[in-house]
Amino acid sequence: MPHRERYLFVCTNRREDGNPKGSCAQKGSEEVVKRLKQALVERGLAKSVARACTASCLDLCEFGVAIVVEPIHVVYGRVTLDDVEAIADAMVRGEVVERLLMPRPEARA
Ligand code: FES
Repeated sequence: MPHRERYLFVCTNRREDGNPKGSCAQKGSEEVVKRLKQALVERGLAKSVARACTASCLDLCEFGVAIVVEPIHVVYGRVTLDDVEAIADAMVRGEVVERLLMPRPEARA
C-alpha cells in the first residue's frame, strides 16, 4: 500500500463517565471514524489519497469530536456524523470544510 496524500486522525479517546474533560468517544467519534472510512472508500480515495485513522487524545477535548488532517494541519472540531459526507466531499475537491475549522492557538482569545 502506498502512503496517502492525507491522513485524517480522528480522536477516539474515551474517558470515564463523569470526567469533566469529557472525551471524543463519548461524543460519538468511534462511529465518525467508521463512517469516514466508508465515505472515503465510496469516493475512491481510500487506497491512495486519504486515510482515516483513529488517534488518542489530540488535546482538543473541548472541541470534540476532533479531527486533525495531516500533512496540511487542518483541525476540525465539533464534528458529528452529519459532517462526515461534507468532509469526504471536500477531500475529493482538495478543499476544507470551513465551518468545522478550529482556530489556530495564536488566533484564540
Ligand atoms: S478526548 Fe478527543 S481531543 Fe481529547
